[in-house]
Amino acid sequence: MKTTAIVLAAGRSTRMNSKKPKVLHHLLGRPMAFYALEAAQQATGEKPVAIIGHEAEMVRQALGEKAETVIQEPQLGTGHAVRQAEPLLKERSEYILVTTADMPLLTGGTLQQLVQAQQAHNGPMTLLIATTDEARGFGRVTRDADGRIQAIIEEAHATPQQLAIRELNTSVYCFTAEWLWQALPRIPLSPKGEYYLTDLVGIAVADGLSIQTIDIQEPGETIGINTRLHLAEAEAFLRQRINRGWMLAGVTIIDPPSTYIEPGVSIGQDTVLWPNTYLQGNSSIGEDCTIGPNAIIRDTQIGNGCRVLASVLERAVVEDRVDIGPFGHLRKGAHLGADVHMGNFGEVKNSYLGAGSKVGHFSYIGDATIGTNVNIGAGTITCNFDGKQKHHTDIGADVFIGSDTMLVAPVKIGEGARTGAGSVVTKNLPEYTLAVGMPARAIRKLERSD
Ligand code: UD1
Ligand code: CA
Repeated sequence: MKTTAIVLAAGRSTRMNSKKPKVLHHLLGRPMAFYALEAAQQATGEKPVAIIGHEAEMVRQALGEKAETVIQEPQLGTGHAVRQAEPLLKERSEYILVTTADMPLLTGGTLQQLVQAQQAHNGPMTLLIATTDEARGFGRVTRDADGRIQAIIEEAHATPQQLAIRELNTSVYCFTAEWLWQALPRIPLSPKGEYYLTDLVGIAVADGLSIQTIDIQEPGETIGINTRLHLAEAEAFLRQRINRGWMLAGVTIIDPPSTYIEPGVSIGQDTVLWPNTYLQGNSSIGEDCTIGPNAIIRDTQIGNGCRVLASVLERAVVEDRVDIGPFGHLRKGAHLGADVHMGNFGEVKNSYLGAGSKVGHFSYIGDATIGTNVNIGAGTITCNFDGKQKHHTDIGADVFIGSDTMLVAPVKIGEGARTGAGSVVTKNLPEYTLAVGMPARAIRKLERSD
């Protein structure tokens, strides 16, 4: 029994006051529409079909592989929107789940309950209902004296008595496809010039068919985004849900409201997150780490037992027991081996630092390969850019770079070599050699034990 979801995303949504289509506004780092599409995919096991219209090309590109898309042009209401998918889905699916791209908090589990309820039902449709005092402009569900559903009344058309109804239409439905496709053309044009999907309820009632409803367990899931106030509200809700999940999984979060964990992140057991920590993109944090306060970690892999204090890590890899900060910055392609220590005001880009190496204070390491147990003195700079091109710096194991050394790339420092404070190294330095001055000159050979 194949079920496909149709996700409505064609509307204009003027209340966002934005140049950007509503469904592309971000929630925890990704377009709001992704949440509804992923929930729909999870509930049906099929790629959903998104109905797009307003700024269709921009929306289609942003959704990418997450959905098939169908264009609705012009946008003549929710009933008209669903109808656009008929050519694509008529022969394909027995059940149609309909949901909207502006309800990012609705879970796959809730949608799955709705689908299962309809699959077990004889009638043409099951509605997902929210029973709550906060109407938020939703349509009201009216019932007859025997409790049978009669209609959905849009708020704009409701009488004062109907406005008091607490049963709300979430705009999420599961239909028997065969009934849906023949009923959609029967929707009348509303006084506002639209075809309301909600009128299918009246049509089914007129056909003498029974309509089923299921009540959503957690009405907070149905927060729909119409304004930026709703966007912030939904973001807080989502953040709380994610944080709660990690705490139950064994992560300590000192102050959940100031901890921002995006959906693509993973975190190991007994890691502690201090306030003002942002874990973004495809980041993974190992076990027993201490992150923050004040850490921004984006698309970065961190091993076990690491400490990151007041630092920014982007597109980097950090192995076990690394200690960074305060005020470190790892940029794209930084790779720190196990037990590396990086103190305040260090920046590393496109470089590998071997296990046990130390960059204690005020350094820039760019386009470098550094061996194990190297000490980079305070203020050391890899001068990797000559104004036109980037060049590489190679530093062997057990090297000691004196404070304030300028390594003018391309340059190689042999294993066990040392530079004096303030050296400007412009030529390769052989292994176990001491060089000093500007430009640096080799002044003596070193014992391996030095
Ligand atoms: C709709 C329901 C209302 C329900 C509410 C829940 C109708 C007539 N009303 O009202 O009962 O309580 O959702 O949020 O269905 N869309 C299109 N094409 C269109 C029109 C809309 O794709 O031509 C999309 C919108 O982008 C949006 C969704 O459908 O994602 C809902 O449309 P919207 O205009 O926001 O309907 P509501 O007034 O919220
Ligand atoms: Ca809406």
